[in-house]
Amino acid sequence: MLGVVVDFASIKPQYSGFIDSVPKWVHAAIRPIAEELESFIPQPFAGEILGMCKALGISAGDGILINLAYEFSAFCTSIVAQDSKGNIYHGRNMDYGFGDILRKITIDVQFMQNGQVAYKGTTFVGYVGLWTGQSPHKFTISGDERAKGGWWENAIAAFLSRNVPVSWLIRDTLSKAADFQAAVLKLAATPIIADVYYIVAGTSPKEGVVITRNRRGPADIWPLEPTAGAWFRVETNYDHWTTPPPFDDRRTAAIKALNATGWENINFETLFQVLSVRLVLNNYTIYTTVMSAAAPDKYMTRIRTLE
Ligand SMILES: *[C@@H]1O[C@H](CO)[C@@H](O)[C@H](O)[C@H]1NC(C)=O
Ligand SMILES: *[C@@H]1O[C@H](CO)[C@@H](O)[C@H](O)[C@H]1NC(C)=O
Repeated sequence: MLGVVVDFASIKPQYSGFIDSVPKWVHAAIRPIAEELESFIPQPFAGEILGMCKALGISAGDGILINLAYEFSAFCTSIVAQDSKGNIYHGRNMDYGFGDILRKITIDVQFMQNGQVAYKGTTFVGYVGLWTGQSPHKFTISGDERAKGGWWENAIAAFLSRNVPVSWLIRDTLSKAADFQAAVLKLAATPIIADVYYIVAGTSPKEGVVITRNRRGPADIWPLEPTAGAWFRVETNYDHWTTPPPFDDRRTAAIKALNATGWENINFETLFQVLSVRLVLNNYTIYTTVMSAAAPDKYMTRIRTLE
């Protein structure tokens, strides 16, 4: 259940750009899925997509396309860090094209169950998945794209064989996993439609990990090792065992800022500052979120511009 009221008429024009950015053959491939949407797409996603389509006056096919298009080309920086007392912090920048539109439709949403916040997250209006979210007192998750060629071909093929979009798995994990370990297992093992990095943080010392995903399963699992000096992990959009390309080295900028901060001083404010240094914060940054599952009320998202 969305915790916001949205004027759908005002955002309808914003979506035509997304729909136009999708290759024509994908429209044709999606049509049969749209006709059988409820048997093809699990709840709550099917119901929410249909509700959105009705509110926007668009076809079910276009609603699915908008949701799949968002899965694509999310360039991001995620950081998980442990301070010297054992507290865990998690932060992320969401970088994406279409910034003029997306800054206006970024929302924090709370998902309620029996009158309580079951989990929360940050997303775009009309998008049923989550790239950023928190299960209170349990764990937090962010996703960063792991870019590969042939994205649409591979994603549509996987979607047709009922793999789930990467952001739906984040939401499903937030709603169902009992604790940090269960979340890591679910995020590592569930078949998804595209490669991705999942960054997961818990509530106890050492509970921080970067999962590098292939569509079928994990390629690599990279935990915090605070006793060996590795009190943080930074993931942008490149495998951590490779060197990022010089034209997009957000990783080194983030590591320098974290080194300068030190683990005695890392907290919500200083993590936000690390996510605000040049390169890490860039022209494509839509929003910054900082969170810590042990202190769920401090979940904070800010819309960003470079100036
Ligand atoms: C950060 O600090 C570590 C440990 O001292 C060092 O090995 C690494 O080179 C530093 N990285 C940067 C980018 O400053
Ligand atoms: C960011 O965008 C502004 C305005 O379009 C441009 O002048 C500037 O060079 C860009 N900065 C970077 C770091 O790309």
